[in-house]
Amino acid sequence: MKGNLPGLVYLERYCNEGTRSYSRHAAYTEAWDTYRPENFKPCFELPCFILPAAELNTYFANPSEPLLDLYCLRDGFRFCVHPQVLKTDAGDDYVRHLLVYGRSHAPLRVSPSSSTRTLFVRDQTPHHALKVHFPYRISRYGRKMRDEVIEQAINVSHELEANIEKFDDRFAFLREVIGISFKNRTPQLPRGEHWGYLVRDMRPFPLTDLNVSLVPGFALYGKDIGERQSAPLLPLLIGQRDPLDYVLEQIMLPILRHWVSAFLHLGYMLEPHGQNVLLEINDNNDIKRIVHRDLSVGIDMRRRRFLNLAEKHINDYNRMETGHFASIAYDKFMGAHFFEEIVSLCHRTYGVSADSFRRPCRDEFLRLFPEHQNYFPSSVQYFSEEYDQFGKPGFHDTQHPPVWRPEF
Ligand SMILES: Nc1ncnc2c1ncn2[C@@H]1O[C@H](COP(=O)(O)OP(=O)(O)OP(=O)(O)O)[C@@H](O)[C@H]1O
Ligand SMILES: [Mg+2]
Repeated sequence: MKGNLPGLVYLERYCNEGTRSYSRHAAYTEAWDTYRPENFKPCFELPCFILPAAELNTYFANPSEPLLDLYCLRDGFRFCVHPQVLKTDAGDDYVRHLLVYGRSHAPLRVSPSSSTRTLFVRDQTPHHALKVHFPYRISRYGRKMRDEVIEQAINVSHELEANIEKFDDRFAFLREVIGISFKNRTPQLPRGEHWGYLVRDMRPFPLTDLNVSLVPGFALYGKDIGERQSAPLLPLLIGQRDPLDYVLEQIMLPILRHWVSAFLHLGYMLEPHGQNVLLEINDNNDIKRIVHRDLSVGIDMRRRRFLNLAEKHINDYNRMETGHFASIAYDKFMGAHFFEEIVSLCHRTYGVSADSFRRPCRDEFLRLFPEHQNYFPSSVQYFSEEYDQFGKPGFHDTQHPPVWRPEF
């Protein structure tokens, strides 16, 4: 196995089979076949336009010069649109506006990532991705990239970068460095529907020059449809080592610690399911850092007020006043959707019991976060099947006791 891991794009696209069973919606997608990550087309062309600065909102969080050069042009900004949107949504006011006021620009070659709407840009350095507007349902939601979502991801990236010393040295994240969206053309609507895209620097931050591979969390237990790997990756990484020790010390406890640090220091609720974490792996198959991606985090305003951070740096998007979402992010996304997959693989492969993993996690959670009862509900929450006028689901109390944090 040493030094022989497939590249990130391969793992993202082809080592994710059988992992989307965590909810009744998880396997659903409205993406056309040709734009799905699991097809075997190496890439597609992403249409680009140039729009004058006056037409756009732009947001920045310390982008590198080469990325600025690629997206901020002399006569305006590059505006990238998913081809499925151009082909189906010509009735969208903003698409019409773009076709009238935008000048066509050379397309970028992109490959879809595991989330479908985030696209890896090929042939350009530094390695980066574009998270584009995709107003079709994948899994539970439509995947719009509205202006306030874009602005908030930039806010979070900026704040996280500025507070990086509050995290341990196993923490890294992917920065969202440029956000570009249309100006609002219908301010009378109850919610801004103007949209755009984000530029994500794919170099884990803090930057290092270590020679490591990036492996998405789901690829530890997902099946390889390209068949470069016949067995799941996790046992190959563990090799002759103790599976319980490897998984706890290199995967679960670091992720749990990052979750608690992000909550305690910034009120952020990371969503570390198998798609949102990448593992930085060295030549000895040791996991050096956990790389968190997707900065559209829930924000606990009770914690922000406690930290005197309430109104600083962030807009209104995804603000939470209750602990329902903390439970969804921690108990469900991290615990049920990710850790339980690893537990069941380790149980099948090595006979290690579920509680051997859960108990040390509960203990560590309590040690780091003794005041957790002030923020979390006593039982596990999940999304309800009722949606508001914007397609956002409500919360549902499963009434199950938590297993990855202590009961109370
Ligand atoms: N194994 C997996 N676990 C969870 N989600 C997965 C998995 N594989 C693919 N996905 C897809 O990834 C997306 C997860 O949603 P999420 O909001 O975390 O990501 P995103 O915001 O679309 O993109 P990104 O993570 O690039 O910011 C969904 O579209 C889901 O279908
Ligand atoms: Mg994600």
